[in-house]
Amino acid sequence: MPKIPILLDGDPGHDDAIAWTLAAASPELDIRCVTSSSGNQSIEKTTYNALRIMALLNIRAPMAKGCPRPLLSPVMTAPSVHGKSGLDGPALPEPAQAPVDLSAPELMARTILTSPEPVTLVPTGPLTNVAALLLAHPEVKARIARISLMGGCIAHGNWTPAAEFNILVDPEAADVVFRSGVPITMAGLDVTEQALLYPADFARIRAVGGPVASVVADWLEFFYQFHRSMGYPGAPIHDAVAVAWLLRPELFTGRDLYVAVETAGRYGRGATIPDPHGVWDKAPNAHVLTGLDRAAFADLLVEAVARYKEA
Ligand code: BDR
Ligand code: CA
Repeated sequence: MPKIPILLDGDPGHDDAIAWTLAAASPELDIRCVTSSSGNQSIEKTTYNALRIMALLNIRAPMAKGCPRPLLSPVMTAPSVHGKSGLDGPALPEPAQAPVDLSAPELMARTILTSPEPVTLVPTGPLTNVAALLLAHPEVKARIARISLMGGCIAHGNWTPAAEFNILVDPEAADVVFRSGVPITMAGLDVTEQALLYPADFARIRAVGGPVASVVADWLEFFYQFHRSMGYPGAPIHDAVAVAWLLRPELFTGRDLYVAVETAGRYGRGATIPDPHGVWDKAPNAHVLTGLDRAAFADLLVEAVARYKEA
């Protein structure tokens, strides 16, 4: 089977880090480049975290630092969830490489345009870099197979009642991406809040043994502290859903919908608004995931971590 070429763009972030752990362990995927986004922490911190994760997982791909701030909004971060560093918890190796001397959108454009096959983008942070790419290089659209992103929500938000964090941080960027015409799979809160790992799953991962298993178990435990205080029975590994859908789409249910991004509004900025009855008369622009087989998702992560032990 030919591998799916992917570009990872994220703001690591515990669940971004676990998404990348799954991606790098999966022989079905070929990571062509990695880019950092401003989100869970400042761009300096998420870039450093991205490089440390790449060193831990032995991801050998060019890496570029992302845009320093959202297109129009001020920087917004999430230290309550991911800590001061953006990836608090276990010690990590220092970076094994430096970012390339290109901006994230330029590295993405070069990677996409030199790829013999269309590539899939996997953004797991605010969509600033992806929007900047599409605005500066509209010619890449024809070379992007799909954008499998974590972001948005249909039923309810997590940072406001209406908005999910990644979209709220940069709604103008999300608006550009959702109106781009590139096929989108939206792993929003509707499905990612079902993507729970329980303490029993953390123990299975720790029992694998080895440095990656130990770090992933520690990340899970750290990430769970915040969510437990919010009443969650486990840790929702939001960002790993965007990768898991590429690997095992049969584990998911979803619906093709037209989704608009609210960039104004007194209460609704950053909301992703679906049109289930077609009143806007627009063709669907997103495959919106709505359900998953939680146990199979947990098994997928455990099996991915076990591959680092075998390597
Ligand atoms: C999203 O927000 C971030 O804190 C997580 O990394 C995830 O991408 C969930 O709303
Ligand atoms: Ca993220």
